[in-house]
Formats: sequence, structure tokens, C-alpha cells
Amino acid sequence: MLPTLPLIDSFGRLHNNLRISVTDRCNIRCFYCMPAENVQFMESSELLSFDEIERFVRVAVRLGIDKLRLTGGEPLVRRDLDQLVARLAAVPGIQDIGVTTNGILLANQAADLYAAGLRRINISLDALTPEKFKQFTRRDGFEQVIEGIHAAQRAGFDPVKINAVSVRGLTEDEIIPFGRFARETGVEVRFIEYMPLDADNAWERGKVLFAHEIIETLSSAIMPLVPVNLAESAGLPATTTAAGHGGPAEDFAFADGIGRIGFIASISQPFCASCNRIRITADGKLRNCLFSLEETDVRSLLRGDGSDDQIADAIRTSVAAKKEGHEVNTARFIQPARPMYSIGG
Ligand code: 5AD
Ligand code: SF4
Repeated sequence: MLPTLPLIDSFGRLHNNLRISVTDRCNIRCFYCMPAENVQFMESSELLSFDEIERFVRVAVRLGIDKLRLTGGEPLVRRDLDQLVARLAAVPGIQDIGVTTNGILLANQAADLYAAGLRRINISLDALTPEKFKQFTRRDGFEQVIEGIHAAQRAGFDPVKINAVSVRGLTEDEIIPFGRFARETGVEVRFIEYMPLDADNAWERGKVLFAHEIIETLSSAIMPLVPVNLAESAGLPATTTAAGHGGPAEDFAFADGIGRIGFIASISQPFCASCNRIRITADGKLRNCLFSLEETDVRSLLRGDGSDDQIADAIRTSVAAKKEGHEVNTARFIQPARPMYSIGG
């Protein structure tokens, strides 16, 4: 076995966070991710099996990975996802498992996922009316997602987080309803700036609604938003505590302590300098960045006679090659060939 040095890249960033895509399939078609029609999905034989995923995770843990997130496509369309969660939760060294889901199938699965050891849940929901939901997702399903959110709260997930992609021309009317929703339900709403990872290649900078604009709208329409650490030191109520885990989100609370709002300002304030993530796609390709143009095939090692040391080596090599940050804000930017559903978010 190779010595177990932590995964530090050439910019000094320590990597402890692995995102695992379990399928590229999805039951809706968000425009910022998928094409409307004729999606070419992976064959099921191409997907890593649960055995292969578990082995990969055991190797990654030796390198310091202790935090996992399951993504898709839509992870809940992968059969027996709760069994994978239980297997990964049992791997010594894993501290934390989350899932990012569109919530359509969540009402039926929330309790089983919680029982299997899942504790963090992010539900993608970009709008609070069925009509606007359909403009984002090109499908019906708004009511199912709302039921899924309630089921997640009943199952014990706390907090439940909502991911809302913020798109100029679409999100403006949703801001205040989302602010009220956060205050009334206790879910944390996090706005994510629209990124150039859409299959249609239709992203433009002008289509991004920026975090600071949303902060201004909420602050004037409802009440000022206060960064969560400030809210804590000001002795505001306990609903504003339990600040983030060093992720890319900046968390705020309304000044009365009721209602949490987060921002992932990937375009206006890139957080690459503190990135601690690596990703493995559903077909077993290791990616050191959402935006990377290169990937490392580990499925051939997992399926062939690759040793654990070779897999560890592949992870180290990928981390070592990680670039300083994305170049979305430069003329050099090249959109990766894989859109979001195929990378895993
Ligand atoms: N820009 C920003 N966020 C995106 N997501 C998917 N595609 C994009 C994009 N192009 C979000 C999804 C989900 C998470 C995995 O990433 O809504 O919440
Ligand atoms: Fe499906 Fe998620 Fe992509 Fe939407 S963003 S189409 S829910 S994979």
C-alpha cells in the first residue's frame, strides 16, 4: 500500500470531499442542464456497480476523503439507492453523506434514505409555481417536489436545503416567494448562479442573475439579510446557528433570525480558491473540477485487474493536475463537453 498522504494539489488545497454521480438519467429536463429531447444516456453496463463505487470510496478514504455526496442525473432513479447509502455509511472514515435530488421521487424514498444513514439533502427547485417550474424543467412535477420536501422534513432531515438556479428573466419573480418560503417552512433556500454547463450551450453571462441582486431584493422587500456568523455573534435566535461546513455557499439569515438564505455565487464570486472537491462520473471517470476538460478513467482499473494502489495513484495524479480555477470570466473559457447531468453537479 502507498503511504497515505493527504490529497493536496499544487495550490495547497486539501481535498476531503467526493461527489459520486450514480446515473446520468433524469426524470425531468432542466434547460440549464439537459437537452429537451433525444438525450443519449449511458448504457447500464457502463455505470459503476455498487461494488465498484464502494471499492473506490474505500481507496479514497485512505487519501483523506471523509465527505460524500451522491448526485446524478437524478440519483433517486438509480434502483436501491438506499442500499448504496447504507454501504457507504458503513465505510470506516466516512463522516458525512449527502444527496442532491430533484425531489420528484423523494416522497417515497425519504424515510428509507434517512434510515440508511443519509443526513444531508439538497432538493433542486427553481420556482414556486407549477407554471414557472415547467419553464425550468420542461416537465410537470412541481407538486411531487413539494411533497418530497415535506417528506424529507418529516423523515428527520434538518436542515432541508433547496437549490434554486438563478437565471435572469426567470428567477426575479421567485425571489420574494422563496424568501417567504424559507421563513415559513424552515428550509434553507440557496440560490446558485447559472453556470455554463448546459447541454444546449445557450448560457450567456447576461442570463445570470447575480447573488448580490437577490440579496438586495430580499433585504428591501422582506428585511435585511445578515451573514450567518454575524447573526450568531449578535446573539440572534438559534434558527440562525449551525453555520456551514466550509462549502461554497455563503449563508445569510433575515435580521429577525427567521429564515435562512444561501448563495453559491459561482460566477460573480468564484470560490475555486477554497475548493475541496473531486468528482467521479457514473461511468467511472474522475474529474478534478466541474469545468475540467480532461478526466481520468478509473473504471478500467476497477473492472480490470487494477490494484487499490493504482486507483489511489490515479486519484493523486488527477488532484495534482487540478487547475487554479475555472475561467468562465475570461475569454479563454471553453465549455466542457459533458453537460451537468453527465458530470453530476
Ligand atoms: N448552473 C447552475 N446550477 C446548475 N445545476 C445544474 N445545472 C446547473 C447550471 N448549469 C444545479 C442543479 C442541482 C445541482 C446539482 O446543480 O439544479 O441543484
Ligand atoms: Fe435532472 Fe438535475 Fe439536470 Fe434538472 S439539473 S435535468 S433535475 S439532472
